[in-house]
Amino acid sequence: MTQEAIALFTIFGATGDLSKRKLYPSLFRLFHQGALNKHFAVIGTARREWTHDYYRKIVLENVQPLITNEKEAEDFASHFYYQAHNVNDTDHYDALKVLSEELDQRYGLQGNRLFYLAMAPNFFGVITRHLKSQRIINTNGFNRLIIEKPFGEDFQSANQLNDEIRAVFNEDQIFRIDHYLGKEMIQNISAIRFGNGIFESQWNNNYIDNIQVTFSEALGVEDRGGYYDHSGALKDMVQNHILQVVSLLAMEPPTVFSEETIRTEKVKALKSIRVYTEEEAKNNFIRGQYGAGSLDGQNFISYREEPNVDPQSETETFVAGKFLIDNFRWSGVPFYIRTGKHLTEKGTRINIVFKPVPVNIFREIENDPSLAKDIPANVLTIYIQPTEGFSLTLNGKRIGSGFELEPVRLNYRHSAETLGNSPEAYEKLILDCLNGDGTNFTHWDEVAQSWRIVDVIRHAWDQEKPDFPNYASGTMGPVCAFDLLEKDGNNWIWRPDEWYRQHNKLS
Ligand code: BG6
Repeated sequence: MTQEAIALFTIFGATGDLSKRKLYPSLFRLFHQGALNKHFAVIGTARREWTHDYYRKIVLENVQPLITNEKEAEDFASHFYYQAHNVNDTDHYDALKVLSEELDQRYGLQGNRLFYLAMAPNFFGVITRHLKSQRIINTNGFNRLIIEKPFGEDFQSANQLNDEIRAVFNEDQIFRIDHYLGKEMIQNISAIRFGNGIFESQWNNNYIDNIQVTFSEALGVEDRGGYYDHSGALKDMVQNHILQVVSLLAMEPPTVFSEETIRTEKVKALKSIRVYTEEEAKNNFIRGQYGAGSLDGQNFISYREEPNVDPQSETETFVAGKFLIDNFRWSGVPFYIRTGKHLTEKGTRINIVFKPVPVNIFREIENDPSLAKDIPANVLTIYIQPTEGFSLTLNGKRIGSGFELEPVRLNYRHSAETLGNSPEAYEKLILDCLNGDGTNFTHWDEVAQSWRIVDVIRHAWDQEKPDFPNYASGTMGPVCAFDLLEKDGNNWIWRPDEWYRQHNKLS
């Protein structure tokens, strides 16, 4: 039986894209499962003047594909209230307080309040200050804050933002969303590592040659040019999602699986990542921006032609790099990462490339030149999305006479049914927050260290004018992304562009 959570949600930015695409559907699914039932209410706030009825209509529109029962949907929507709000206007917070108290009484919410800031970070400070000064968080129940990325623009601004928020909320009341931490297979990294002796015993520089983390997107910036052009891939993806994944892959085993122990280990892992000098950053990180291109008969415009993007933009839409981790476990093992927009395929995956066998004993069998080739490395691949699961490539003997090795792939992909039931990241994270479980949120120490790592790279890049665009849409990024590994004698394991090239669908 799902336990019912009791809370008042106040969503700042209720008319925005995030609320519509993620929050309302997630709340609906929680309602449908019974995790939200009678004792919850939502106040949506934003600048626009909407009525409660109009707001409910919008909420319903955005959960339409999930509705199986009209009565249930109506019941769900009846918990939603709207209040037009100017974040700088103290009177509006007073009105919010009145409405909050009224709903608290009506729905028996026990003073439990969850504030969701689905807004640009420059509003976080003013909103949290008013929540305190107007005594909206002054209740006996829990008061929690969920905030979205980006959390600052660099270490300094993030630190300042954090100070502003921490003047009102304690760290254990702050839930910084990184939606990748809510994804099933990201949570599965710990299951794979710590539930299998076979892997954890090998999870170090004695057995692992390199690790490759790819966050590839097939879409361009679409309608987010205004935000993205000021952010770029380094801040949009590497500072948060990718470094979180690297820390989960690199951390030491926690003593128990709890919020506090995991956080401690993640922070330790992040602090072991080498903070480069600017010279090192230039050697170990490369950037790209997509130009026009065509894939499988579809044509794409260049980044500089996208709406709300500066036609001379020097913003990167692609990053590849190598992190080095200076501790006993990982010294000498490169963690290669790459992410970009308008690449060949949407796909997030991690390749753990094991070291080859020390000696190729098959190399000298007479009259069979194929055996002289190096034995391919074993690779453990964790598929995060769109397919979920993992695979392990091993080498076996090809059936038949003679002796030839061939790669064998052990594959475990989740069935469609499991996938259909697997909760959406936001749904899991909202439920975690309702339960006060911060395991899958980012602590300030993690955010701070991630900025320190990324700031140097940004600064190094800002000293030089990039030669953009440098990759065609539909490819897997600029040539320098391949050179980066080649100079270490390595290669990207996942190369979806090859198939398209072989089939003349990509030039
Ligand atoms: C967001 C980034 O955090 O993650 C986007 O701002 C990116 O630019 C998105 O497209 C990718 O998330 P997902 O879940 O679609 O892989």
